[in-house]
Amino acid sequence: MFPRIVGPNCLKYVEEVISGGLKVNMTERFEKAFAERLGVKHCITTPGCTSALATLVSALRFVPGDEVIVSPITDFGTVQGLCVEGYIPVFADTEAGTVNVNAETIEECITDRTRAVLVVHKTGLVCDMDPINELAQKHNLFVYEDACQAAFSEYKGRLVGTLADAAAFSFDPEKTMGSDIGGCVVTDSDELASRMRFLAHDRGAEWIPGFGRYHHEMGFSYRMPECTAAICLGQLEVIGEQAAHRDRIARILWPLLEEIPGITPLPIPENVTLFSCWMVGFHMDPRHFQCTAEAFSQQLADAGIPGAGTARYYLMPEALAFLQKRAESKSHQFAMPPASRSYHYSADSCPNAKAYLKNFIRWASIGEKYRPEHCEMIADIVRAVADRNRSSERIEQRGR
Ligand SMILES: Cc1ncc(COP(=O)(O)O)c(C=O)c1O
Repeated sequence: MFPRIVGPNCLKYVEEVISGGLKVNMTERFEKAFAERLGVKHCITTPGCTSALATLVSALRFVPGDEVIVSPITDFGTVQGLCVEGYIPVFADTEAGTVNVNAETIEECITDRTRAVLVVHKTGLVCDMDPINELAQKHNLFVYEDACQAAFSEYKGRLVGTLADAAAFSFDPEKTMGSDIGGCVVTDSDELASRMRFLAHDRGAEWIPGFGRYHHEMGFSYRMPECTAAICLGQLEVIGEQAAHRDRIARILWPLLEEIPGITPLPIPENVTLFSCWMVGFHMDPRHFQCTAEAFSQQLADAGIPGAGTARYYLMPEALAFLQKRAESKSHQFAMPPASRSYHYSADSCPNAKAYLKNFIRWASIGEKYRPEHCEMIADIVRAVADRNRSSERIEQRGR
């Protein structure tokens, strides 16, 4: 994957920042270009997606103890801001056989304290957003997307980031539209955008002549560096073709993996019209193999698929030990009042997600350098590892 192919103008834009004596407002230029590309009104840049989501939840003005329904298979960055604000993450289960939530699994989690739904489009596969938005509308909930792994994927022809009330992106080097770091929030709401700018860029402060910053709120200093914005601007010029390339490669690789008995790649829903694949993932049916998913993925890595591994740490209800401790001791956001009930964080609260991740293998990613022949090579490696580890019982059954 590294070194990556970067947009041809990246260096030129970085040079502009330096030769302009650091007076060039590249972040504003990138914000404008990114918003225009997505067709949204506002883009507020940040140093990453974690800080973007933290700014967004802070701007929402919920109160500690309010609940936000969240996808359970994700990165810590999805929930960090929620936890800091004292909101309560409630993890909806995934749809069986997938890594994403849907309207039904979300609906089961709605209570009188639910204020928002935060969906993660895991691996680049977009959640089925129309029913989720319908449900949210019925319950007057704010919906936002963690679009970190799905930049420039499309749902029914609409770009990720435009599918709800707001969305956050990451421009981490390994992400689909990678820079050296970076992130942003996009939204059509003027009020939310100006509040996010106030919190993230102005530090929650008003500038009073003769005095300086007067802090009305607990703000942040989450500003995107100008050179980062320059790289982002250059990357934005090539992302369309790169995302389409990821989609083409994924749709070549998937059928090749599907041919291997016991291996089922993550289903690509029909309404995902462009799959900007950030992560390749498949499920191995344990009945077919005599090894664990860890051993299988280690053999894939040894055979030349770098980064192949299991992804159990993504199961947030299990990974957030500090949150379970708080819930158990009813401290922080779980203090009574205002929390109205008991909360419990463990893998068992999301049985579909737990079961799926037990035998899920993934690697990031099929970047801009992949060619169709690489798909053949990958499928050959997976097939060889699968055949080497076939359960003899299964082979005998097939031979009968
Ligand atoms: C789904 C998801 N959300 C949030 C993040 C955090 O993004 P960042 O590293 O830009 O803060 C990541 C990073 O891997 C991610 O995959």
